Amino acid sequence: MPEDGTDLRPALGTRVLGVRLVQYEALDSTNLEALRLAEAGAEAGTVVTAQTQIRGRGRLGRRWLDLPGRCLLMTVLVEPPDEHPGRLTAAAALAVAEAIETLGGAPQLKWPNDVLVGGRKLAGVLGEGSRAGLMAVGIGVNVNGSPEDLPRELQQRATFLSHELARPLDRDALRDEILQRLDESYDALKRGEGRAMMQRITPYDCLRGRRVELLVDGVRLRGEATGWRRDGSMEIRDAEGHSHVVRGGEVTLL
Ligand code: BTN
Repeated sequence: MPEDGTDLRPALGTRVLGVRLVQYEALDSTNLEALRLAEAGAEAGTVVTAQTQIRGRGRLGRRWLDLPGRCLLMTVLVEPPDEHPGRLTAAAALAVAEAIETLGGAPQLKWPNDVLVGGRKLAGVLGEGSRAGLMAVGIGVNVNGSPEDLPRELQQRATFLSHELARPLDRDALRDEILQRLDESYDALKRGEGRAMMQRITPYDCLRGRRVELLVDGVRLRGEATGWRRDGSMEIRDAEGHSHVVRGGEVTLL
């Protein structure tokens, strides 16, 4: 395990991500800690990790549960690379998917930022803006465990990487792989090559061309998902052929 405060960049070959690794045993949330560090002047590229979170934050105000010491809980602080925050969080989900693929898994991405294997979610991404202008991109991956370790209501919907790959995994190696891939995509976004980056998502997109229902702000919308758009939003075409651009909410496959 690298020491606290280590600059990971020389070992990882990253440009921005990993400038400083800040590791905790337990935190309320790595996102909250990253936001606090940003306000205290932390540099872009800082990476915060924890073995467990007491108040892990998920999308849409939900909680993110972990098994202490068996999940990857990490937040990276970055300058927004462009005016589309949805691209950055999509890049983080893509980095997780690509890392899983290198390990032999067959990941899928579900808009906006869920990573699934075998139809069950094993990773999520939550982006939050800081008053200091940096963005906190939180990544949670269920690494070593099995669905039976989770509360009963989650067992059908969530899984762990080790369960899917039938072998235990090194969380630090997974962290480094994700950081390397996200650093590359981040650089592409900064260079204005977001379009090419977003195209890399398409092969993993499990909603594209499927009938879905979207629930956003209490409103239900049904139609065919046409996939991620260049800015990170998604398009749904309803039965009348009208196109709806969606930027938030929960999508369910019909
Ligand atoms: C979701 O799918 O709802 C997003 C989950 C994001 C969870 C990660 S775990 C590390 C970071 N810290 C948090 O409190 N949340 C994110």
